[in-house]
Formats: sequence, C-alpha cells, structure tokens
Amino acid sequence: MSLHRLASITLGVPDVVTAGAYYEEFGLSKGADGWYSTTDGGRQLRLVRSPARRLVGLSIGADSPDDLYAITRRLSRLGIDARTDGRRLVATEAVTGVEAEVVVEPRPARPAVPATAFNGPGRDERGATRAPGVVREGIVRPRKLGHVVIGSTDQETSRRFFTDGIGLKVSDEIAGVAAFMRCSTDHHNVLVQSAPVNFVHHTSWEVDDVDEVGRGATRMLEGHPERHVWGLGRHTVGSNFFWYLRDPAGNFSEYYSDLDCVVDDALWKPAVWPSGDPKSFLTWGPPMPPSFIEPEDLAALMTGAHASP
Ligand SMILES: [Fe+2]
Repeated sequence: MSLHRLASITLGVPDVVTAGAYYEEFGLSKGADGWYSTTDGGRQLRLVRSPARRLVGLSIGADSPDDLYAITRRLSRLGIDARTDGRRLVATEAVTGVEAEVVVEPRPARPAVPATAFNGPGRDERGATRAPGVVREGIVRPRKLGHVVIGSTDQETSRRFFTDGIGLKVSDEIAGVAAFMRCSTDHHNVLVQSAPVNFVHHTSWEVDDVDEVGRGATRMLEGHPERHVWGLGRHTVGSNFFWYLRDPAGNFSEYYSDLDCVVDDALWKPAVWPSGDPKSFLTWGPPMPPSFIEPEDLAALMTGAHASP
C-alpha cells in the first residue's frame, strides 16, 4: 500500500489558448472537458489562466485510504493542515504555493511496448528490415506524464513537504540544490531545485524510445526554431534520453525515454552529486545552455513574483 504514480498536473499560464495548441502539437489529446491526455496515463494536464506561469497543483495516485491518513498525520507533525474526505487529500506547499492532491485510485495498466530491435556488433536482430525509427510516420504521442520540476526559494522546506509529508522517496540528490523524488518506480516524478523565485522549470513526458524523442522534437521545431532549449542528450542522474522544448508561456517540456526505474527500494543506492558538477546533468549531448538553469524570463518572474501564487 503506497503512492503509485504522478497522476496529473495543473499549469497556470497567461494564455491558455496558445499554450493548449502547443501541447496538442506536442502530442497530447484535448478532451471535451478541457484536460489534455496521454495515451497510457489518461487526463494528465490541465491549463488554467495565471498572470505568471506557475505550477498550480499536482495530483498523486495512492493505493488506499490508509495512505491518506498516514500523510495527514505526517503533515500534521510538520505543522501543515491537510483536508481529506478519505478518498482525496489536499494540502498546500507553503513556499511555492503548489497544491498537492493525493487521490485513492487503481494503478493504471501499463502496456509493455516491445523494445525496438537495434542491430549491433555480431547482432543482426532486425533481420532484413529497416530500422523502425526510420519508417515511422505518425505523430509522436507521449505515453504518460513522467515528472515535474519546480524551483523553490526554500528548497529544503519544499522538499520536506514532499518527502516527510506526502511520502515521496529520494532517488538522488545534488547537494544542497536539488532532490529527485519518486512516488512510483520512476527514478523521479517530482524534482525541487533551489531558485531565486518559485517557478515551474519543466514537465516531462515519456515516449517509446530515443527515436520518438528525436522525431517528436524535430517535428516541434519545424517552423519554430525558438522552441529549442536543449537536446538531444542523455542525462546522468536518471539516465534518460532527453530533448527540452519551450512552450509559449516559457515552461520547458521534455520528451524522454529510458529513465532508470527503482523496482526494488532496497537495491537502489541514492547518490549525492556535488553541486555544480556538469557531469551530474549530462553523460553526452550538446553542452547545457545557461538558459536551462536560469530561463530567460527568470528576471521577469522575479519582478512579478508578487503575482504568484
Ligand atoms: Fe526532466
């Protein structure tokens, strides 16, 4: 009995129409109720109007009402009030203003997508066929929401809310700067990093494999080179292939594949990486642009910080 997934997020943006069009192009499907869905995760993104871009809320799936009672007790020990009706719990993280919801819901079925056959030295696994990544033509559809990353002006307090309060586990850390936390077997579902202003850094969406990362980003950049942020590369912490793009509000959205999974908590050894070590970010790929850590609108967000939350 425990937390089992990052179910959804609510993003606040100044213009929900242009942002919505971007996420439909990104591969999410808009429903009649206004939610944006992935193929395996269902309704996972909601856009609401906000003067400054921000993470309004996130929702986490849990197995049992007992999980909610345990979270309520832990939050209470931190001096944080939680509202619960036994099936749903809501509490607000005081520093960032993010509303965290935990809902009792069944674990969604996750269809296993067969691995792409790669030829290699002494291995002609594909036989007499072209690589699947070369012949694919359809639009890239994210399978699920993977993680959300927020900047916090008090990283330690925000992190404590999610770990000691909600019950996420820490998979890895960058000393004093960032905590990679999971509420599922994914290496990270929520990441809180220290920042001069509270803001949403990026959302991340799982696709089938590295070819889909490349195909998705390439298509998004056609006619929109300004959307490019950073990619294609492979992260060190989490191990995933990544390509980051920018939505019209300034939020980064990441296509990823092949993230580490922690299938047995006892076997995973969390590491603490020294702050400022570029190797913690990148195993290979283009150098990280400075605007990745400090987005170009950071100064504007700081000036208008009173408007959010
Ligand atoms: Fe990411």
